[in-house]
Order: sequence, then C-alpha cells, then structure tokens
Amino acid sequence: MALNDLHYHQPEHHEGYYRLYTRASQEQWAVGALPWQQLGTLDPDWRDGMIRLLSPLLVSERGAMQACATMLPVIRAQGEYDAELVMHAMMLDEARHWEGLNRFFIEARATPSDIAENRDMLGINLLIMRGTSFDQWLWCIQISDIIAGNLYNAFRNSCQSQPIVEMFAGFLRDESRHHRFCQLYFEEKAQHFTPEQRKRFREHGGRLLGKFEKMVLGRLRDDLIRIGADPKKIFHKIATAVDRQADEYGL
Ligand SMILES: [Fe+2]
Ligand SMILES: [Fe+2]
Repeated sequence: MALNDLHYHQPEHHEGYYRLYTRASQEQWAVGALPWQQLGTLDPDWRDGMIRLLSPLLVSERGAMQACATMLPVIRAQGEYDAELVMHAMMLDEARHWEGLNRFFIEARATPSDIAENRDMLGINLLIMRGTSFDQWLWCIQISDIIAGNLYNAFRNSCQSQPIVEMFAGFLRDESRHHRFCQLYFEEKAQHFTPEQRKRFREHGGRLLGKFEKMVLGRLRDDLIRIGADPKKIFHKIATAVDRQADEYGL
C-alpha cells in the first residue's frame, strides 16, 4: 500500500462488523489466567487420546494464525477496512488457540505426536491457502471453524478438569464469533457470485471436507472413541452444518 493511500481515514462504519468487534473486545480472555492449579489427575487413556487428537490441531491453529496474517493485507488492499478490523481480533483469537494447545501439552507433561504423522493436516493447510482470493480463503476458514467447533465441543464434554473445560469453552466462544464474521461477509458477497464461482466454492469446500472426513473417520477414529466421542456422529454434524451454510449462501 502506498504511503499516501489515506482512504482508510474515512471509516465506512458497517454496523455489523463494528458490533462484532465490540463483542470481540469484550470477550477477550487469557489462557494464562485459567485455574491451572486445579488441573487434577488426568485419566491416562483420555490423556493418550487427547495427545493424538490435539497434535494435528496444533498444526491447524498455527495455520489459522498464519492465514489471518496473509489475509489481512489483502482485505486492506481491497479497501474493506471494517472487515479488516474484525480480522485483527480474529488473529489474536487464533494465536490464543495455538497458545492454549501448547499449554495443554505443557500441563499434561506430554509431547505432541510426530509432525510426520500430521502431514495430512499440513496438506489441509496448503489446500486452504491455495489461490489468492480473500473470499475463497475465508470460506475454507469457515469450514475449518465448523470442524474445530464440533471437535472442541466433544473435547469439552469429555473431561472434568476445570482449566481444560474452561479453555475449550473459550475456544468455542471465539469460534462462534469467527463464524458470525463469515456469515456477515458472505451474506453480502455471495449474492454477486457468478454461477462458476458458486460451483468452485462448493467443490473446494467438498474437497476440504473430504480430507477431514478421512482424518476423523480414519486415523483419529479410535482416539475419539477413547475419549468417549462418536466419530460418525461428529462427522455427520460437521457435514450437515457445512452443507446448510453453503445452501444459505446460495452456493
Ligand atoms: Fe482457532
Ligand atoms: Fe477460528
């Protein structure tokens, strides 16, 4: 951006984005302030399952953080300054999620599973960041948020440890704001999509979902069962939610 580009000096004040940013400011919280001294004893079987389940999410929350950093200059260049404002809050949220997962491994005195085992998630990050359009990235981010939301919900329900329950509840609050941001953005943008664009979005979303299906019903299946979750049910919920959202946008 040229230094003399002062368009941002005239705010547009999109009511929805400002309301969402206010909510984001009011809902800020800190992983470090959770009651970690009340961690308690973790069930060894649950702990083993969670190590394998949270390791790929360490990759994806890191990816979300990086995605925000890539998307910010693009939305700024598009002149959508109110949406940019919300993206700044989202980047802080994603950084907190990554921090929180790291904290889990430290508190549980555990080491994440080898990065080679999590290549599939690295591939998903690459698929998400392919292309150069902000709206395509955001659609993938929304799908990932739906997936993460369902998984974090299952994790929260699987455990009694106070700081861990509170941490996942905090993640869910953040994700629900990201979800709302995507809805605000696409309610407006998707109306102007060409039939080819709609088709491309559907297909791209389907590919992403397919990769997650392979993980949830494949290598992570036994770990989900181990923590008391139902992989089939979880994936069905995810697929239905993504489909419903695509229909709402008219994709
Ligand atoms: Fe996240
Ligand atoms: Fe998110």
